[in-house]
This record gives sequence, C-alpha cells and structure tokens, in this order.
Amino acid sequence: MRGTYAVPYASRGSILGGAETRALEQLIASGGPLSTGSFRDRFEQRFREHIGTRHALSVTSGTVALELAIHLLDLREGDEVVVTPQTFQATAQPLLGLPATVRFCDIDPDSLNMDPVSLKSLINDRTRAVLLVHYGGWSAEMDEILALTRERGIVVVEDCAHALGGRYGGRRPGALGDIGCFSFHASKNITTLGEGGMITFDRDDWAERVDRLRSNEVDGDFLPASPDGLRLGRELLPWMKYASPAYEKVCSDIRRPGTNATLSEAAAAVGLAQLDRLDVLVARRRWIAGRLNEVIERHPYTRTQRPRPGVEHAQHLHTFFVDGPPGLRESVIRGLDERGVEVQLRYLPLHLLPEWRERGHGLGQCPVAEDLWFGQHINLPCQPGLSDAQVDHLVTALDAALRTAVKGLSCLSSM
Ligand SMILES: Cc1ncc(COP(=O)(O)O)c(C=O)c1O
Repeated sequence: MRGTYAVPYASRGSILGGAETRALEQLIASGGPLSTGSFRDRFEQRFREHIGTRHALSVTSGTVALELAIHLLDLREGDEVVVTPQTFQATAQPLLGLPATVRFCDIDPDSLNMDPVSLKSLINDRTRAVLLVHYGGWSAEMDEILALTRERGIVVVEDCAHALGGRYGGRRPGALGDIGCFSFHASKNITTLGEGGMITFDRDDWAERVDRLRSNEVDGDFLPASPDGLRLGRELLPWMKYASPAYEKVCSDIRRPGTNATLSEAAAAVGLAQLDRLDVLVARRRWIAGRLNEVIERHPYTRTQRPRPGVEHAQHLHTFFVDGPPGLRESVIRGLDERGVEVQLRYLPLHLLPEWRERGHGLGQCPVAEDLWFGQHINLPCQPGLSDAQVDHLVTALDAALRTAVKGLSCLSSM
C-alpha cells in the first residue's frame, strides 16, 4: 500500500521551520558568498564543539565523509579492514575499489552493533582498521572495541550517520574512535536541506588532507619546483590570486585526486539552525520509541532494545524483534501494513549484497546478523515529524497487529 500509509516511514527525519527560513533569508539578504563563507565556518565550529573533536570538516554527504575517511587509512595490498555487516551500503562501499581485504564481523543480538567477541576473533597482524556503525543511534561497545584496537594501532572509523544526539559514557559518538563520519541526509536526525555530511577527528595532518581534497586539490607529495623547471610563480603571474604557492611546486606521487565536496552556504545555514533544534528532535524520537516499547513489551514473543546505563540512544531508528515460531514476524509486518503503517527492514547484511558475494562473502559468515534480519528484525517509523495523531495511530495499529499475529498462532496450534 506504498504511498497511502497513514504512518509513512521517514521521508523527512527532521522538522524544518522558522529558524531555518530566517537563516536562509539572512544568507540571501547579506549578499555574501554562497559557497565557502562564514555559515560553513560557524557550522563546523559549532559541530566540533558539540562532538568534542579538534576538527570537523563539512562535506556534501555522509558517503563522501566515509570515502575520505577510508582514503586517510592509506590501505595497501594485504591490509585488512573489519567491517560491521548491519549497516547501509555506503559504510563499506569505498572499500570495493581498494586492494585491502574486508572481514565482516558478526553483531550483538540486542544492539545490532559490531560484537567485540567476533571482532577479537578477526583481528590479526594485518588488521589496519575497524569500520563500525552506531546502529540506529545506539553507540557500539566502544570501551571493549578500543581495548582491542588501541594497543595494536588499529584505526577505528565510526559511521555516525545515525548517532547524532546520542552519548556513550558521557561522550559523543564521532569523538570516541579515531574518525567520525556524519550524514545530514533528509532522513537523518538533522538535515542540511536534504544532503550533507561531516567528518570529525583530532589529527591536524588529516585535516589538511581532507581540506585539500574537498576543494579540488590533489592529495599527494608536493616538492618545490626545480629552478630550471617550469616556473609560474607570483612574479610571473602577479594578477593570478591562485598562482602561488601551487605553481611553485611540483606534485610527484598522487594518492588521490581531489573533488568538490564543498557544503553550500545555504546547507550550512540550515545546519546551524538544525543543531539548535537537535535536543528537541531527539527527545521526540525517544518519546515515540518509549510509547512503542510500552506496547511491544505487553506481548509475548517480542523483544525491545534496552541500552545499558551510560548509552543514550539517539533513536534514529526504532528497532524491535519478533522472536517466535516461523512466520510470526511476517504476520506482524503484514498486520501493520494492512493498518496503514509502513515498515522497513534496515538493512540487508552487507556481506549478502551481490558486490560482496562476488568477492567471496556470503551466507553463514555472520549468523547472528542473518538470523535476525531474516527472522526477527522490524523497524517502525519514529521520526519527530509524525503528528501526535499519527503516533496514536501507530501505537494502536502495533498493538492490534501483535495481538492478531499471536492469536493466529494459537488458532493454528488448536487445528
Ligand atoms: C549508516 C549509514 N551510513 C552512511 C550513510 C550515507 O549517508 P549519505 O546519505 O549522507 O550519503 C547513511 C545514509 O543514508 C547511513 O544510514
């Protein structure tokens, strides 16, 4: 019944209003730059203060943030990267074009995050990086993961696309590992008008490399040009603002060509206004999740997500599990669909996607992720833009769908 849902799954994950409109009006009225101006500077400053890292560099999407993060790893033939399979394909996609070996790590059955026990079994002398996601906004078990990686110098990349607004032990995702990658896609906890992203870390050398790459410069080794070589210095081209120092150098090894990943001023202006709203947006997500969990816990064969103390869920997704006889999960989904609630299953474990199967991955590699996705896992809408009436509808429909599905079981068993 796509398109006619009383409670659709997040087309917009955020609420946009007067503050965002005023920010755009201010930008237009200012006559100032529409690219690389003060809104971007302020957005990045506010973001790094919020996350608690030395650097936050905005880019055009979460995917680009991940591409740049993986580039910073300087992976070579024989290097290994351990990746969570329970995530959106953008997390691991940049690895497809690289010579490194990917190892998919099984997940914890409650959080759906990388399981530290499985991670431990995959780490070896060739492991260079761990690529994890804070699934749905519940932070991965960072203390245990960092205990395995820190002493071996393994870089931890956090995909924080779901995690903005959450906390782990009082700290923010994106400042827990070595590199954080955020998405401001329309569906996320805040949006920069539909698309946008941010990369966070502490290292100054990484900041220089990312800043060059996002502004159409190459990442390579620059050397002064030899005196008898081509010289196009400032003296020769004094009117060319961009001539120096680039034209006084040569670039030998190129690690990666640059690109234009500049977040527009309009996007940054909206991002600033959205950051002010973040607490309110996440609070509403948590309130909706609380109402859903109350209903779910009244029914048999169900399991809700209950993070342990110290983990503050950013609730980008609401996830629960139907753990009963075969077919029960499908009956619940059908019941919700018939009652006007759009359900999604996020995400088909990555190692089962054709591009990864072609590279030797497949069924049986991550049994927990597979069992949950094929048998138990359900994601319900919980975006803050749902009206109170829609939340009431969702709660009533969920209660009825669960009751009917379980009743169907007892009818079958008495036949
Ligand atoms: C876990 C995860 N990683 C990465 C991305 C990619 O972000 P973007 O859509 O901004 O490129 C998404 C977004 O959809 C995501 O959910």
